[in-house]
Amino acid sequence: MFSKETYTNRRNKLREKLSSGIILMPGNSEAAFNYPANTYHFRQDSNFLYFFGLDHPDLAGVMDIDANKDYIFGNDVDMDDIIWMGPQPLMKNRAAEVGVENTAPYNDIIPFLQDAIKAGRKIHILPPYRGEHFIELERLLGISHKAVKNYVSEELIKGVVALREIKEDVEIAEIEKAVNAAYEMHTTAMKMAMPGVVEQEIAGVMEGIALKNGGAVSFPIILSINGQTLHNHYHGNTLTVGRMMVADAGCETTLHYASDITRTVPVGGKFDERQKAIYEIVLKANMEAIEASRPGIKNRELHLGACKTIANGLKELGLMKGDIDEAVRQGAHAMFMPHGLGHHMGMDVHDMEGLGENYVGYDEETVRSDQFGLAFLRFGKELKPGHVFTIEPGCYFIPALIDQWREEGKFTEFINYDEVEKYKDFGGIRIEDDILITEDGHRVLGKPIPKTVAEIEAVMAQ
Ligand code: GLY
Ligand code: MN
Repeated sequence: MFSKETYTNRRNKLREKLSSGIILMPGNSEAAFNYPANTYHFRQDSNFLYFFGLDHPDLAGVMDIDANKDYIFGNDVDMDDIIWMGPQPLMKNRAAEVGVENTAPYNDIIPFLQDAIKAGRKIHILPPYRGEHFIELERLLGISHKAVKNYVSEELIKGVVALREIKEDVEIAEIEKAVNAAYEMHTTAMKMAMPGVVEQEIAGVMEGIALKNGGAVSFPIILSINGQTLHNHYHGNTLTVGRMMVADAGCETTLHYASDITRTVPVGGKFDERQKAIYEIVLKANMEAIEASRPGIKNRELHLGACKTIANGLKELGLMKGDIDEAVRQGAHAMFMPHGLGHHMGMDVHDMEGLGENYVGYDEETVRSDQFGLAFLRFGKELKPGHVFTIEPGCYFIPALIDQWREEGKFTEFINYDEVEKYKDFGGIRIEDDILITEDGHRVLGKPIPKTVAEIEAVMAQ
């Protein structure tokens, strides 16, 4: 946990951003896995963690904007809990650790909220994302779950995004720990990527490294020799020479800050000519985008720059043709890179995505495009000091998409389909790093994870 002043300051700053009323921030409860008492590993809600810090189920935080008071509602454990879970601190002591003086048993929140509603006070909530949240809010607010959306407050969403998107030094240090654990995950995976190994053997070891460093993986591991499927969670293939293995994986620290790193390596440890050619294009896009990262530039510019680098590289290989600026303007490159360059990262690996991607990644000055490819860019707005985000260009040969576009005669002035046919067995490549925007530029977070052809071949030769 951070210092109690950290949490008190955050709550005070949030209160200043809202005009009046009550902010209700429920934490998460245990979620059943395959029967009620067998639960998923508990994960606290990230907004609750950010403002109230306590990493336990069945709590609710309240910030009274007008009275300048904070509350945590939650029950002290009983003897049954102590027998099964061991001794637990009292609620008032837990709350004191995060600077909250007012605590009460959990169900006392119901009359508290009902009184506020009767007095005509506004209750602000963030968008719920679990079915249980809707049911609990129905009970707490005395309304139908269908009416819960009426309490979702844009003022609160904007206030939370404005705070959480600018990382404090203590948060950056946590994220850096998560990237350093990812270093170990990825360098281990590289050394294991040898013919005959089954993907799940590598994914399992990576997940174990996350756990031994104190947290879970920050999202289900993506690891596959079929990297042309962007989020491939099937880990049953046996590695064979000639395939590239994409590993997109990160972990959480004990305080739930994430890393998100992708590396792509040739099975067996040596790039062949075709793999090297495509890899160097994606690496150039990754390194140029990182180099261009600084306050004041829009992330959409970085995205479009990376797309041009990839399209120019593919033109040199004869896969694309024509005026590349125009090809990217029209979206022809998106057959090869259909996703965005990156996303905010913090306590959520796609930070605050649950609050609405457009609140986090866009603003009045930068409106989301609806063009295939660019539409999937989660973060387009201007970079500011304190932003932490990913840069993850990729190049993929997706047979079904190639066939569809070819049949439709799409972008025949920019895509050399006869050449592209020859790459349908290639797979995909993605290279992802985690970046902090500083006052005058950027810093790549964590210990550098091998990514040049020479670095990868050296690690894999060990
Ligand atoms: N690392 C998975 C993603 O960014 O979507
Ligand atoms: Mn990512």
